[in-house]
Amino acid sequence: MEERKMGCVLSDGTAGSRFSSTPTASFFAVSLLVILVVIASAPGCQCWSKEGHIMTCRIAQGLLEPAAAHAVRNLLPEYVKGDLSALCVWPDQVRDCHDPHGTPDMCVAGAIHNYTSQLMHYNHGTSDRRYNLTEALLFLSHFMGDIHQPMHVGFTSDEGGNTIDLRWFKHKSNLHHVWDREIILTALADYYGKSMEVFQADIETNFTSGIWSEDVSSWGDCDSLFSCPKKYASESISLACKWGYKGVRHGDILADDYFNSRLPIVTRRIAQGGVRLAMALNRVFGEHNQEIPPPT
Ligand SMILES: *[C@@H]1O[C@H](CO)[C@@H](O)[C@H](O)[C@H]1NC(C)=O
Ligand SMILES: *[C@@H]1O[C@H](CO)[C@@H](O)[C@H](O)[C@H]1NC(C)=O
Ligand SMILES: *[C@@H]1O[C@H](CO)[C@@H](O)[C@H](O)[C@H]1NC(C)=O
Repeated sequence: MEERKMGCVLSDGTAGSRFSSTPTASFFAVSLLVILVVIASAPGCQCWSKEGHIMTCRIAQGLLEPAAAHAVRNLLPEYVKGDLSALCVWPDQVRDCHDPHGTPDMCVAGAIHNYTSQLMHYNHGTSDRRYNLTEALLFLSHFMGDIHQPMHVGFTSDEGGNTIDLRWFKHKSNLHHVWDREIILTALADYYGKSMEVFQADIETNFTSGIWSEDVSSWGDCDSLFSCPKKYASESISLACKWGYKGVRHGDILADDYFNSRLPIVTRRIAQGGVRLAMALNRVFGEHNQEIPPPT
């Protein structure tokens, strides 16, 4: 892994993080994120697959309080009939998260900050013409999903795993794609009869009454909607090092062991993305919203 200067470096010499296990790791990870942003130049999709986005948005929409549910319905174009998930993939088609000036920045967290502060104008009734709040809602929903995809905030030197070619069971893939889509598709086929509804219901059961029911309230803890995305990005970096890159080399065949050990991480990140998107929308559109958007 010598060519991957900024990558995770683990003692076994495989990909991993050189700053993965010290107490300052997350602080470092956050600062690093400012520098290391994958998104701009990498080919291919730097995001959850459409399945990941759809489930994140459906989970979130199911958790909206009345004020937010109303605002979301109001902002969505009529043809989606109130279904946010129908457009959560849309931002991939119109705009990659990139910095037009070419300076690496905290792209995804920055975008979330940006669109959150735009949406805060909704309740102030001043339909500010500078912003299209429909688009802001869709971008926020999309990026809140992406920031939870561990390899999305991977390393620029390997483009979030896009340059790590390998096999997923029998077919050619790459490490980034394994995380944004392969694991989800294999789970859908093996366990959920290819039904996203059944998969989503299993995820929801696990945070309402199952394995994550004790953790779910802490997922939504957030002092400031503007700074929490940095925490989510930093979690993703740690997961990328600990579970994404670890033990993986160019040309490997990833199969059952990798799938079974990583699937729980993927499902938890989708669940967290949904819960946190709902939290953010509930606060942004909440009737007693007191958060003052900082100057942008
Ligand atoms: C912030 O929002 C504006 C207006 O929608 C957009 O032009 C700009 O690219 C956004 N910046 C980021 C980092 O997303
Ligand atoms: C806002 O953006 C959506 C999606 O691009 C578009 O359909 C709509 O016409 C825009 N609204 C305004 C007021 O420009
Ligand atoms: C839900 O939890 C069960 C264990 O109780 C686990 O077997 C299953 O894979 C989990 N499903 C998801 C989608 O996380």
